[in-house]
Amino acid sequence: MYAQMVETGLKKVRTEEDMSLEEAAFQARIDAGIKIEPKDWMPEAYRKTLIRQISQHAHSEIVGQLPEGNWVTRAPTLQRKSVLLAKIQDEAGHGLYLYSAAETLGVSRDELLQALHSGKAKYSSIFNYPTLSWADMGAIGWLVDGSAIINQIPLCRCSYGPYARAMIRVCKEESFHARQGYDIMMALAKGTPEQKAMAQDALNRWWWPSLMMFGPSDAESVNSAQSSAWRIKLFSNDELRQRMVDQTVPQAEYLGLTIPDPDLKWNEERGSYDFGEIDWSEFYNVLKGNGPCNRERLRTRVKAYEDGEWFRDALVAHAEKKAAKRAA
Ligand SMILES: [Fe+2]
Ligand SMILES: [Fe+2]
Repeated sequence: MYAQMVETGLKKVRTEEDMSLEEAAFQARIDAGIKIEPKDWMPEAYRKTLIRQISQHAHSEIVGQLPEGNWVTRAPTLQRKSVLLAKIQDEAGHGLYLYSAAETLGVSRDELLQALHSGKAKYSSIFNYPTLSWADMGAIGWLVDGSAIINQIPLCRCSYGPYARAMIRVCKEESFHARQGYDIMMALAKGTPEQKAMAQDALNRWWWPSLMMFGPSDAESVNSAQSSAWRIKLFSNDELRQRMVDQTVPQAEYLGLTIPDPDLKWNEERGSYDFGEIDWSEFYNVLKGNGPCNRERLRTRVKAYEDGEWFRDALVAHAEKKAAKRAA
């Protein structure tokens, strides 16, 4: 029902009366569950919102490789090393599907990367935290990829076809990532007291940032109502965060580890967990660029791009040579 007026505090969803015929037809297709495809007419604001959302997602996949890349050479066994390497390569693939999906909206990959490298575009703040021990590889897979899955599963049903289809494959691979993380945590939790302490320390450091991954609480969240009407946001940040807590607490119990939240308590009435207040000042501070690793991540990312210049040049030169041959 798109005629309904929804207030978010800052923005309003457009009502039937405000809409052009084209817009009303577009919204009716979304309401009927029909996917929007690249060549279909779409409101400029829908296009822009999607470009921002998909490219931020793509940047997060690519930058998300960096904290884990740190541990490839120090994985404890050959098997752990090859699994971690495969996982990190998957993340590169996720970035590529998502950049491709964004390109269908009429933006070039060069523009998107330029925005990332200049610091203009955002990526998930979780990747601005350091990876201090091997247990962090476990905590990231379990909590960070675990949260990513909760966020992304609904997006498999979002209104924009190329994004929804990219998400289906991404989610399948993310489940493997979460499993490999939990498997690392399980080995450590069942290991020596020192190993168990490492696992607990990683959980202590990654728990709150993982909850912050879902974004500001609903009351603060701008643009949510319009994004829900367009079906590019299917659940609120707080709903998804609650899902993550409810799913993860029993998993922590199984590991014999303690979630670092004294206010965490089962709420019989609601049938889910109550949990403590998130430190939003930390969230906004990292978002502004003042997290422990913001500068390092960006620097590493830009250097990797610059180091790859010869390869991109060679590809273009090869393509041009082939085209010239064909033309001759
Ligand atoms: Fe991913
Ligand atoms: Fe992942």
